[in-house]
Amino acid sequence: MNAPQGTAAPEAEQRDVREQAVTDEVIASFDGAESGRYREVMQSLVRHLHGFARDVRLTQAEWQRAIAFLTAAGHITDDRRQEFILLSDVLGLSMLTVALDAPAADGATESTVFGPFFVADAPEIQLGGDVAQGAKGVPCWVSGQVRSVDGVPVAGAVIDVWEADEDGFYDVQYEGKRTAGRGRLRSATDGRYRFWSVLPSPYPIPYDGPVGELLTAAGRGPMRPAHLHFMVTAPGHRTLVTHIFVAGDEYLDRDAVFGVKDSLVVEFTRRTGGTAPDGSERDGGWAEVRFDLVLVPEHEDRE
Ligand code: BEZ
Ligand code: FE
Repeated sequence: MNAPQGTAAPEAEQRDVREQAVTDEVIASFDGAESGRYREVMQSLVRHLHGFARDVRLTQAEWQRAIAFLTAAGHITDDRRQEFILLSDVLGLSMLTVALDAPAADGATESTVFGPFFVADAPEIQLGGDVAQGAKGVPCWVSGQVRSVDGVPVAGAVIDVWEADEDGFYDVQYEGKRTAGRGRLRSATDGRYRFWSVLPSPYPIPYDGPVGELLTAAGRGPMRPAHLHFMVTAPGHRTLVTHIFVAGDEYLDRDAVFGVKDSLVVEFTRRTGGTAPDGSERDGGWAEVRFDLVLVPEHEDRE
């Protein structure tokens, strides 16, 4: 209903002016920040945060609920569980920062979300060795070549790989300190790499905490399509953080963290028995996949 002229409009205007004064004062409080970048980021954060609160006419009760949510996220976080990364992931902020900071470059392997399950200093695995180290699952032979976008093989690239087992859990989600389903390899002089691991399985992101409640409230599921993580580091190149996804997985079109890119969906071929590419005789089921990892030279700088 329209308010009588001459009353409501000025009232609304006065309200806007009062609200904007709060925002302006807070923005100005960062004017003296020593770092220009810090000032830019914080002033924009305040502008957008206040804009959001105004947009939804945020109530104090709702803001208290949000504080309780963040507090619970803090309480459940420790060195094995990172609820804030999960939150960033399910809000798509992780993938947005990937798009902003690691934009697709012609011919290069695309990046995707890092996730909370990387562990630094994973055990070194020889080329052709077994990354599974007891992780449950169908053995899977993974091979490919690390190259630069100009086609030149990258020797000695450090390739970190990690994945969940057949039951959908990473080693760090189990009690104890067993390392399984993760390792670090180095590409050969011709850039090639190869290792045994397990066929990736779909799994739910941890949903027994506040982020799980958020997903439930949204009517969203916690599942990620089956994938194998890579992080590739080589001198003179941008670090690549990516996964390969198993073609045909039922969750490819509803990844809880929005990480799927078409170029990263690959065919994992299932086999039974026979001789594997490393010459070993297999008597049960196994799988194989080939994926080349193409890096962007560091000097192709972003603005
Ligand atoms: C992962 O793929 O490991 C992952 C990514 C985002 C949230 C949870 C897990
Ligand atoms: Fe994962």
